[in-house]
Amino acid sequence: MRAAILTVAISCANIGTIRILSRSQLLKETSVESSIFGKMGDGADVELFTLKNARGTTAKIISYGATLQGLWMPDRTNKFGDVVLGFDDLKGYLGPHPYFGGTIGRFANRIARGKFTLDGREYALALNDGANTLHGGRQGFNRKVWKGEIVKGPRTASAKFTYVSTDGEEGFPGTLAVTVVYALTDEDELKIDYTARTDKATPLNLTNHSYFNLAGKGDILSHVLQLNADQYTPVDPTLIPTGEIVPVKGTPLDFTQPTAIGARIGQFAGNPSGYDHNFVLNDANGQLKFAARLRDPASGRQMEVWTTEPGVQLYSGNFLDGTIQGKGGVAYQKHAALCLETQHYPDSVNHPNFPSTILRPGSVFHQETILKFSAR
Ligand code: GLA
Repeated sequence: MRAAILTVAISCANIGTIRILSRSQLLKETSVESSIFGKMGDGADVELFTLKNARGTTAKIISYGATLQGLWMPDRTNKFGDVVLGFDDLKGYLGPHPYFGGTIGRFANRIARGKFTLDGREYALALNDGANTLHGGRQGFNRKVWKGEIVKGPRTASAKFTYVSTDGEEGFPGTLAVTVVYALTDEDELKIDYTARTDKATPLNLTNHSYFNLAGKGDILSHVLQLNADQYTPVDPTLIPTGEIVPVKGTPLDFTQPTAIGARIGQFAGNPSGYDHNFVLNDANGQLKFAARLRDPASGRQMEVWTTEPGVQLYSGNFLDGTIQGKGGVAYQKHAALCLETQHYPDSVNHPNFPSTILRPGSVFHQETILKFSAR
């Protein structure tokens, strides 16, 4: 009888690949749909792209900021839950909020005093974090309307977003054309792929600023984290790197073995009041490598992070204080979620010993981060 509920499916796009799917899986098709999420003040549409795979896993991305607005993942009982913070409507995203789900550019994290020198010329950027520039300045890529389009492909639901940043935007040199593709596979992987080209040399550091809570509620203190990082970049009280690269061993930043976020977070006082550190990923060489594994013991949900980037910022939602009401009217409290921002090290433009973040004309920038979800 088992044969009756199993069907052999031959993928037309890839003749020779034979997959065995259950009937319930066959009933669900991988799909991408777009709809209108809201309108900007000038009347421009902001679109919502809904990527759904054969299992029913869903990623929702809006063209404002090429922002991951929702990510519905099954728990160990196959119950779906939204594992990222954000808002139900555009109004929320247009208001003040700490980069929920956004694509961050032109330069992720901080640049000291908003200054850097490139090819003998000093540049001054917009300051938006005390005396420093944070996440691209006042109107970073997360505050721009990107052009979104559906991309069709076998067994993967994808949407592509493009944005052209003008020469001088927020003080950065060069016209920069950026593309971000979000692709959801039938294996519950969300791939985020970035490419960029410039017509003048420019610093470039892109990331996605999703706030994850694998339980879909409460806080992340009992989430267990493992990082493939033996070192980190210490910071001064304004969260600017000192330039040193030091071992995590013997500090609360040692996540080389799986450890609960809450186990040592109390050891941080002042700024940061929790985790807000760039970890130096082991053996980074531009190839896709394992960076992090985050697990929520209660729901059984697990997320692995793989990336081509040399660093990851672990930020434990220290600045959330309950004043922002997000999806479903929930007030996001301190540590309601955490970010794992795959990136080049903060303020790399001012530290020659850090891997270079300069993109030059004629070169194509490429970066990929994959979030692999499972539950057990
Ligand atoms: C990053 C920074 C933090 C904070 C958040 C947004 O993670 O490192 O210091 O600015 O973004 O609030």
